Amino acid sequence: MSNILVLNSSVRFENSNSRQLTRVLLEKLNAGDQPVKHRDLVKQPIPHFDHSAFSGFSGDDSQASQQARALSDELIREVKDSDIIIIGAPVYNFSIPTTLKAWIDYIARVGVTFNYTEKGPVGHLKNKKVYIVLARGGGSVEHIEMQLSQTLGMLGMNDITYIHAANLDTPEREAGLNDVFTQIDAVCH
Ligand SMILES: Cc1cc2nc3c(=O)[nH]c(=O)nc-3n(C[C@H](O)[C@H](O)[C@H](O)COP(=O)(O)O)c2cc1C
Repeated sequence: MSNILVLNSSVRFENSNSRQLTRVLLEKLNAGDQPVKHRDLVKQPIPHFDHSAFSGFSGDDSQASQQARALSDELIREVKDSDIIIIGAPVYNFSIPTTLKAWIDYIARVGVTFNYTEKGPVGHLKNKKVYIVLARGGGSVEHIEMQLSQTLGMLGMNDITYIHAANLDTPEREAGLNDVFTQIDAVCH
């Protein structure tokens, strides 16, 4: 039995490419009807990583800091409880959505999800299989892959498979979708 966590961050709902594809991926991976937790980062946004959050992660006990720490604890618990994580990541202005960045900022906590050692940072969110659907219009995404792999990798999530969805807002949509479905079939074989 594998627990699955699905994160979506598209500002589109019905017409979202990444939401549609995380759904397809989930259906294919969830053949055995495994428990699924959905976290929608747009419908239920996480605040920016601000002064209260920073102070809260360092032990401050103001009300705002306590709230930030409680939310962080909840998000970290969801990751710890999951074996498979599916992330829908549209590309907006050459970057991941700020909502997804906020989620990363809230789960990256020194002393909790990673530690600095003489050999560099060591992450504690281990034994997760991560799938990231990168949906984009057409620009390059190498820097985004590097950012996601480095930040999630620092937390212990090194087993990441990227599914690339490109050209889905163009007349080549059908060919683009076929390509994505081929990628999804290949990772779900
Ligand atoms: C505000 C905005 C900014 C975008 N910026 C980029 C970009 O920098 N590079 C790119 O390749 N596509 C860009 N796109 C296209 C989206 O990545 C593409 O529409 C993708 O399918 C979005 O996923 P979604 O449908 O799940 O929201 C942008 C779209 C929007 C709405």
